[in-house]
Amino acid sequence: MLAPRMTWYTGDPTYDTVLALALGFAALVALTAPFVASPYGRFASDKFGLALDPRLGWFLMELPATVSFLYFFFRGPHHADTVPLVFLCIWLVHYGNRGFYFPLSIRSPHGARASFSLMVIAVGWLVTGMHGYLHAAFFTSHATHYTSAWLCDPRFLIGLPIYAVSLALNIHSDAIVRGLRSRDEVALGERVYRIPRGGLFRWVSSPSYLTELTAWAGLALCTWSLAGVFIFAVSAANLVPRALSTHRWYRERFPDYPRERRALIPFLM
Ligand SMILES: NC(=O)c1ccc[n+]([C@@H]2O[C@H](COP(=O)([O-])OP(=O)(O)OC[C@H]3O[C@@H](n4cnc5c(N)ncnc54)[C@H](OP(=O)(O)O)[C@@H]3O)[C@@H](O)[C@H]2O)c1
Repeated sequence: MLAPRMTWYTGDPTYDTVLALALGFAALVALTAPFVASPYGRFASDKFGLALDPRLGWFLMELPATVSFLYFFFRGPHHADTVPLVFLCIWLVHYGNRGFYFPLSIRSPHGARASFSLMVIAVGWLVTGMHGYLHAAFFTSHATHYTSAWLCDPRFLIGLPIYAVSLALNIHSDAIVRGLRSRDEVALGERVYRIPRGGLFRWVSSPSYLTELTAWAGLALCTWSLAGVFIFAVSAANLVPRALSTHRWYRERFPDYPRERRALIPFLM
């Protein structure tokens, strides 16, 4: 039997049903993620079956966020309006980095064991596919507040810089991690891990996660949408426990790990 379709947010039953399922999925992730670390990178595990090279894994996992976004964006009647076009630019910058530059620049040791589980890609597709659809359809089909006055609204004016500064710091933190392995080590197939230093690593072990979350919070504010709430919530559900596990992992692996460094939030957690 088909689940009943809802009209509780935009009035479009398909959109509102997907949004409800997406928010429910974020709650499910919040309940399960503290007990099962996503099997990729330092927490890769053979228990979850087939795995791919991380460059391919990341690329495939993030691809639906670009493809579904562009498809639904240009189907919407408002795709040529100013505010949706501003959000299109943000999306292209964001997923130009996360979907293409980041995966393709990963320094994965040549010939090393594949570590990016297919299960992560499958679950990731659900998230990135819904994320692209929910944002794009909202931007060009359902939002009623994106008149040009929105560009002067305090929610847009506060949310946009939060998003932009967070994205810049996220890219910087990812670059510090990338620089921890030399190209020679990669060519020799050595999977070395080092203590990251500098930038926001002075304060926390997972600045990429912290800035990922503040970026999505900024986007949710400047788009004023439940699609933004969804991507913030599902990311927080996933990344908060992973940041705590990553912090423990660093402390166990490196006896000289900086004691004052916190897991995710400077001075607090
Ligand atoms: N929105 C979301 O829900 C979400 C979810 C996950 C990630 N992300 C974002 O994606 C980006 C990457 O996430 P991640 O850190 O979880 O990816 P990751 O795959 O664990 O790390 C990225 C790369 O850095 C290497 N690396 C990590 N720590 C290292 C160290 N101490 N020394 C040397 N190399 C190291 C990894 O090598 P190995 O593969 O060999 O371990 C991998 O090649 C972040 O910006 C994050 O915010 C977002």
